Amino acid sequence: MTSAIQIIYASQSGRNQAIAGHLQAQLASKVQTVVTEISQADAFALSESDAIILVTYTYHDGDLPDEAQDFFEDLKEVDLGRTKFAVLGSSSKTHIHFGRAVDYLTMQLNSSNGEQVADSVKIDQDPDDADWQRVDQLAQRVLTSLA
Ligand SMILES: Cc1cc2nc3c(=O)[nH]c(=O)nc-3n(C[C@H](O)[C@H](O)[C@H](O)COP(=O)(O)O)c2cc1C
Repeated sequence: MTSAIQIIYASQSGRNQAIAGHLQAQLASKVQTVVTEISQADAFALSESDAIILVTYTYHDGDLPDEAQDFFEDLKEVDLGRTKFAVLGSSSKTHIHFGRAVDYLTMQLNSSNGEQVADSVKIDQDPDDADWQRVDQLAQRVLTSLA
C-alpha cells in the first residue's frame, strides 16, 4: 500500500503555507500527501497517516498561533502509536522566543507517543537557499523512515 503523509500548517501571512506547499511538491511523486490547515486538522485521526509533518509560525510572546490551540489541547489526549513525525516552521529572530511553537509541538508530539524522525527546523522569516535545503532534508528523512 502507498504510504500517506499529512502536512499540517499554520500560517498568517503565507510563509508557512508556502513551506507546506513546497513539501507537498517534494513528496507528492513518492507518497500520498494531504495538506491541512491546522484549525481544520483532527488530532485524533493523526495515527491514520503513516507520517505527519507540522509546519507552524510562532505568535504572541513565543506562543502557538491562536488557531493551533485546539489542536494542541487535543494532542494531549492522543496516543500516536509511534506515528512518525517532523516539525518545522518560519518564525522571526526579531522576537525573543524564536520559533518556540516549533519546540512546543515537537515536545507534545513526542509526549503523545509519536516517533520523531527528523530534527526540528526553525527558519528566520523568508527561507533562503540553505533553509530550503534543510526543508528538503527533513522531507527526505521522513520519506526514508517510511521505506
Ligand atoms: C504579533 C506577532 C507576534 C510574533 N511573535 C513571535 C515570537 O514570539 N517568536 C517568533 O519567533 N516569531 C514571532 N512572530 C513572527 C512570525 O512567527 C513570523 O513572521 C512568521 O514567519 C510568520 O509566518 P506566516 O507567514 O506563515 O504567518 C510574531 C509575529 C507577529 C505578527
